[in-house]
Amino acid sequence: METWLVTGGAGFIGSNFILQQRRAQTARIINLDKLTYAGNPHNLSELRRDPDYLFQLGDIGDRPLLSSLLANQQPDAVIHFAAESHVDRSIRSPEAFIETNVVGTFRLLDEVRQYWEGLRGAKKAAFRFLHISTDEVYGSLGPDDPAFTETTPYAPNSPYAASKAAADHLVRAYHETYGLPVLITNCSNNYGPLQFPEKFIPLMILNALQGKKLPIYGDGQNVRDWLYVADHCKALRLVLAQGRVGASYNIGGRCEKTNLDVVTHICHLLDELFPQAPSVPHARLITFVPDRPGHDRRYAMNISKIEQELGWTPKESFDSGLAKTVRWYVDHPQWVESVTSGAYRQWLQMHYGADSS
Ligand code: NAD
Ligand code: TYD
Repeated sequence: METWLVTGGAGFIGSNFILQQRRAQTARIINLDKLTYAGNPHNLSELRRDPDYLFQLGDIGDRPLLSSLLANQQPDAVIHFAAESHVDRSIRSPEAFIETNVVGTFRLLDEVRQYWEGLRGAKKAAFRFLHISTDEVYGSLGPDDPAFTETTPYAPNSPYAASKAAADHLVRAYHETYGLPVLITNCSNNYGPLQFPEKFIPLMILNALQGKKLPIYGDGQNVRDWLYVADHCKALRLVLAQGRVGASYNIGGRCEKTNLDVVTHICHLLDELFPQAPSVPHARLITFVPDRPGHDRRYAMNISKIEQELGWTPKESFDSGLAKTVRWYVDHPQWVESVTSGAYRQWLQMHYGADSS
């Protein structure tokens, strides 16, 4: 069995990925995670007794730690999820985004390059560095623009998007300059179980369940291309196994929705699940609030390349994926309790004001 070093595996997508891979027993996994506010080791508690899963607390910017981890564990691949990932936080406090997403990615790349240069034969030839990125590097689309392709010029608008774009460029440069066998994926907005509730869909589900306001930025007509997280994880597995070295692949749900449509849908699902709740109809909780600065209007991914080259396509429909997601948050109050700590409540208070905490 291969060994993979996963970074940021205690976050939303990373933990879904690790659970999916360990359930299928595809690889032995070492998860390097700093456990920021967004990292939650409980996400992986099902693997507590799994001898082929190892958690390593640490920072991707810690070179001595990286160097010993790589030397001791001899991974066949590095799968890099670790990042600061929330746009609103990047607007308020951009520095952590530069430190982790840019400097951290650089140090990780450089340590991995040294490790890879020391490998020999088949192990060296088969090694891969998979970098997980976002559609936000491409900027914003107008209503009639064609969807982003892999050759759309980068035009990031938020500090988050700019830091991910910088990381993507470094990863690409490490391939072009040193020959490091990299793969880059750029994915659209994910949703599903285990997503930290500062992000749009879980925030709306949890606020609605508690009868709190549902804060929609601007006019609610911003469009995102939603992908169920399990579909993203399957795409990553495929890119890792079969992607062309040095290539980037767009991943998306072919599922464009306005924010207002998404919230309304969540409200209907909750009305059906809890017809007696005092907040029914939940849509009356929708509240328009001032817009996010530099708020990208529309994202949409052209996914022809990954479909044609690797045969991947999104499987979960938005209706079934959203229903599953709402159900998951309803069924996991303890998980919600464990992540909505003091730090989370402070963020709500600072960002949304007194009403929301
Ligand atoms: P997340 O914020 O839920 O998790 C990030 C994880 O990285 C956390 O476990 C955190 O503790 C860890 N981390 C942060 N800084 C670290 C550091 N310096 N060293 C080690 N670990 C650190 O993020 P997510 O939503 O799971 O996103 C994962 C990746 O996918 C990110 O690179 C993000 O840019 C990308 N992405 C996310 C989406 C989305 O919709 N969530 C879409 C496309 C791409
Ligand atoms: P988010 O989940 O932060 O993802 P991203 O900004 O990376 O796309 O937000 C998704 C959309 O929802 C985005 O257009 C901003 C909007 N949004 C709100 O309207 N209200 C909110 O409270 C949040 C968190 C997001």
